[in-house]
Order: sequence, then C-alpha cells, then structure tokens
Amino acid sequence: MTHIEDGFKERLRGTSRTFRKKEGRHTLKSEDVIYCAFGTDRFTVSRNEAQRSAPERLARFGLSRANVEGRSALDLGCHNGAMLMELTNLGPARGLGIEYDADKVAIAREISAYCGLNQLRFEQGDLDRLDAEALGTFDIVFALAIEAHVLDADRLYTLLGKVTGDLLCFEGNGNCNVDTVKESLQAVGFKTIHYIGFCDDDIVPANNKRPMLVARKTEPGST
Ligand SMILES: C[S@@+](CC[C@H](N)C(=O)[O-])C[C@H]1O[C@@H](n2cnc3c(N)ncnc32)[C@H](O)[C@@H]1O
Repeated sequence: MTHIEDGFKERLRGTSRTFRKKEGRHTLKSEDVIYCAFGTDRFTVSRNEAQRSAPERLARFGLSRANVEGRSALDLGCHNGAMLMELTNLGPARGLGIEYDADKVAIAREISAYCGLNQLRFEQGDLDRLDAEALGTFDIVFALAIEAHVLDADRLYTLLGKVTGDLLCFEGNGNCNVDTVKESLQAVGFKTIHYIGFCDDDIVPANNKRPMLVARKTEPGST
C-alpha cells in the first residue's frame, strides 16, 4: 500500500468515528474501523477493516451489471461514498453522493479522483433542505440508514418520490417500522415495494436489525 493510500485509510477511520444524526452526533461503538468496505481497481477497503460491506449490500439489493450499467445513481446521506464507489464496478453512467459532513465529502472526492472515477460527484448537503427539482431524477436511488436521522421523515419520502426515476434501495435504521415505510413509499408514487429482510453485513450482530426494501416506480411484473 502506498503512502497516499495509508493516508486515505487513516482519514476514513477518522471520518467514520461519528456522523450527524437528528440531535447531535452518533459515535460508533467499534473503534478504529472504517464505516463501509468497498473496492475499485486502484483502492480497496477490505472487509476486515470495515464495519459494513458495500459489495454485500449491493448484492442484497439485487444490483448487478444488468440493471446498473449506463444508468444514473444518487446516494442520499452517502457517508464516505463507499456505496457509489463500489457501484462503479457495475458500470453506472454517473453517480451523485450527498452528505452532511464536509470531511466525509472531502475524502470521498479525493479517493474517487485518485481512482479516476470521473463519473462520480460528491456534494455537501442537508437532506432536510434539498430541492428535488434542482436535483432532477436518477434511475437508482440509495436511501440507506438515514430515515431516523433526518428532521422530517415525510419530507424525505416526498423527496424520494420525486428524485427516483425507477429503483429505490432503502434501508431503515434499527426499529424502523416496515409497514410505515411501505405506506409512505406508496403515497409518493412507488408501485412495487418489496421488503427483503434485515441487513446482515454489520460486524456488530446487534446492528443487523435494519430493514431493507426495494421499491420501483413501475407496476409489478413490468421490466
Ligand atoms: C448511519 S449513516 C449511513 C451512511 C450510508 N448511507 C450507508 O448506509 O452506508 C448516516 C449518514 O447520513 C448522514 N446524515 C445524517 N443526517 C443528514 C442530513 N440531514 N443530510 C445529509 N446527510 C445526513 C450522516 O452524516 C451519515 O453519514
């Protein structure tokens, strides 16, 4: 590993220690761990260095080259950008990550530039204030472990309804009510909504109680 990559990992560990939540900040119980593993041709955070795993999570959502290649993706509350960086292995046309913490955005930008991932962009932003019209629509949207952290969950669901062109990959925080998520997504225009079980990638077993849902704008049975 080069000096630059050592430096990236040190900063990823630093930016993973806390994150913004509804009231104040959440501090990770696991110390000195990077929030989420991912791999690109040039830089990899391996599974044993991380709390969560982007490749495992993408696989759980059923994402593959067949449904990602050439498409656009948006990650709301993207942390260090691991999900989008991992997604580049499946050939998306472009990806935008939005995150409240400026230090997470900065390291995501530096790593993606180092890896030559010019199709990705990372921006600092507050999900409670985003303007859906200014964002436009994306084929694939990630809303992962953020619903309990925004001030206004209804506003988040409205935003998801507007910015999702086709597929939404949703993960609730622990204790999130699946029926409430389904009703909220239905109310903003999602036609097919599947609960696919709890996440299973967190190295802390007690954290694997985040419900995962895949929702689509199209009617059941359409491609
Ligand atoms: C539990 S982490 C989940 C990170 C990422 N979505 C994932 O699942 O890998 C929640 C993330 O959302 C960010 N966040 C919380 N509130 C936010 C807000 N109002 N606007 C943008 N990002 C926010 C946090 O800083 C943190 O990076």
